[in-house]
Amino acid sequence: MTNVAILISGGGSNMLRLVEEMHTGKIKAIPALVLSDKADAGGLSKAQCLGVPTVVVSKSDCADAAEFNAKIDQALRNHKIDIVCLAGFMRILSAELTSTWAGKMLNIHPSLLPKYKGLHTHQRAIDAGDTVAGCTVHIVTPELDAGPILGQARVPILPDDTSETLAARVLVEEHRLYPKVLAEFLEAR
Ligand code: GRF
Repeated sequence: MTNVAILISGGGSNMLRLVEEMHTGKIKAIPALVLSDKADAGGLSKAQCLGVPTVVVSKSDCADAAEFNAKIDQALRNHKIDIVCLAGFMRILSAELTSTWAGKMLNIHPSLLPKYKGLHTHQRAIDAGDTVAGCTVHIVTPELDAGPILGQARVPILPDDTSETLAARVLVEEHRLYPKVLAEFLEAR
């Protein structure tokens, strides 16, 4: 069975959806690890309640980015991880780490890539006068938010939307898209 690690930095709502669907069997994999760069990430306690092993790799405990990435890689190997899912993980991983896990690392990004790579995606879409927004699940490559797209979901941008109301609408679709894409990705392996 495939061992999946999920990397988070905060509440981990996407992580929860992935773990739930692995526990129901819809996703043919085991949630073998939830790793965060933040010791106070709300998702860690939720993962522990679901019986998923957790690890914290804090950037501040590392001398430099190389050590940070090396510790993440070591934690993944210690847990015999096959596939890595970034889910609200707010650190940029090194080219070395993303190359080591080439083809085995996925991310969900809250925009319709290739539009709006990086941060503040919802405000940028609103400011641009877009009428459609959404989210993308893609393969992680050394270039930020630029890897092959595995799936996307669209939502309307409403005239009175704020970045918060739009983010909430997109998040609903993220929770549907990521489990669907991960299940398909694993089936196709
Ligand atoms: C989500 O919008 C996700 O797209 C982005 O981080 C936000 C929080 O995700 N990457 P989560 O609730 O921690 O899964």
